[in-house]
Amino acid sequence: MITCRRRPAGRDYGPVLALLKETLPSWKEVDDIKTAETAFEKSTFALFAYDNDRLTGIIRAISDDAAWTLLADLAAIPGPEGHSAKTMLVQACLDRFAGHEVFTVSEPGDIAFYEEMGLLRSKNAFTRDGEDHPVSGYPLSDYYLPKGYRYETEFYPFAGNFPAGQKSSRDLSRAQLRYQTDAEGVDFGEVNDVLCRAFLDQRDRDVTEKTFRESTYLIFAYDGDRLAGCARAVSDTVRQALILNVAVAPDYQGLHLGGNLLDRLCAQMKGQNVFLNTHPGGVGFYNRGPYFRNKTALLYPAHPDTPEEIQKGFDLPKGYRFIDEY
Ligand SMILES: CC(C)(COP(=O)(O)OP(=O)(O)OC[C@H]1O[C@@H](n2cnc3c(N)ncnc32)[C@H](O)[C@@H]1OP(=O)(O)O)[C@@H](O)C(=O)NCCC(=O)NCCS
Repeated sequence: MITCRRRPAGRDYGPVLALLKETLPSWKEVDDIKTAETAFEKSTFALFAYDNDRLTGIIRAISDDAAWTLLADLAAIPGPEGHSAKTMLVQACLDRFAGHEVFTVSEPGDIAFYEEMGLLRSKNAFTRDGEDHPVSGYPLSDYYLPKGYRYETEFYPFAGNFPAGQKSSRDLSRAQLRYQTDAEGVDFGEVNDVLCRAFLDQRDRDVTEKTFRESTYLIFAYDGDRLAGCARAVSDTVRQALILNVAVAPDYQGLHLGGNLLDRLCAQMKGQNVFLNTHPGGVGFYNRGPYFRNKTALLYPAHPDTPEEIQKGFDLPKGYRFIDEY
C-alpha cells in the first residue's frame, strides 16, 4: 500500500536525489544532496510516496498560497507502482491548491499522464534564457517551440480582453526612476491599481498584497513617488521559479520598463529555471525577449468554466500532439 509523507524517511534526501537523478534529465548532473534538500524544504508543499519503506515517488509545489502554484519534480519509479504513486501525488497537490492556477513544465513522457489528471497543455508558457538562467542542455525541440512560433489562433483577433501593450509618448529621460526589490513602504492599493489598469480587469487589493508578500522575489519601478510597474516570482531559491504579475502602468508602457523589471527580477534568481505563463496579448512581448516558448507546459485552470472561445487562446485541446510527438 502506498502512503504519502510530508518529509522523506529519516529526513534523508539521499534516496530523493537518487530518484531525481535516475528519472529527470535536469537533475542528472546534480550530485549535491543539499541542493535537493533545499529545493524540497523551500517549497511550499512536498510529498514523498512510500510503498512500505521504499520511496516510489515524489513531488513538490511552490506557491503564493492564494492564486498560482508551480508543480515541480514529479518523479517516480518505473512501472505500475510508480504510476499509482504519481496519480496520488498530483491529486494531493490539486486538492491542496484547489482554486489556484496550477502550472507545471512536464517531461515529454508525462504529458498524457497530466492530461489524465485534468491539466491542459498551455500555449502561452515561456522559459527565460540567458547566462544566469540557461535553457537546459537537452534537446531543444523536445521542450521548446521554434523561436517566433505562432499558433493558428494568433492570426485572428482574440475573443476576450487581452492587453497587447501600448506605446507611451512620455519622455523617460525626465523621469526619476528607481527600482526596489522588497516590500518596504509599498502601497499595495497602488500595486493593485497598476495591475488592474495594465490587465484591464478588477482585482482584490488584499489578495494582491498576500500574493506579493508570499512571493520569494519582488521588483517595483517608481518614478519619483509614483509606482510605474511591478513583478514578482515564487521560487524554491535554487532550482525553479515562476514569474507572476508583470505589469507596467499604461502611461509608462512601450518604454522598456517591462524588460528592465524582468531583468532585475531575474537577476535575483541566478541559475534557476525561470518560467512564466502569459495570456495571448503578452506572447508578442516574450517572443521578442530572451525566452523560449514551452512545448510541455501544462495548466490546471482555476476557472475551468471559461468560455471555449477564450480558452482556446490559452490551452491546446486535450490529446493535441505536435507532429513530432507521434
Ligand atoms: C507586457 C508589459 C509588461 C511590457 O512592458 P513594457 O514596458 O510595455 O514593454 P517594453 O517597452 O519593455 O517592451 C519591449 C519591446 O516589446 C514591445 N512590446 C511590448 N509589449 C508587447 C506585446 N504585448 N506584443 C508585442 N510587442 C510588445 C515594445 O513596444 C518594445 O518594442 P521596441 O523595442 O520596438 O521599442 C506591459 O505592456 C504590460 O504591463 N502589459 C499589460 C499586462 C501584461 O500583459 N503583462 C504581462 C503578462 S505576463
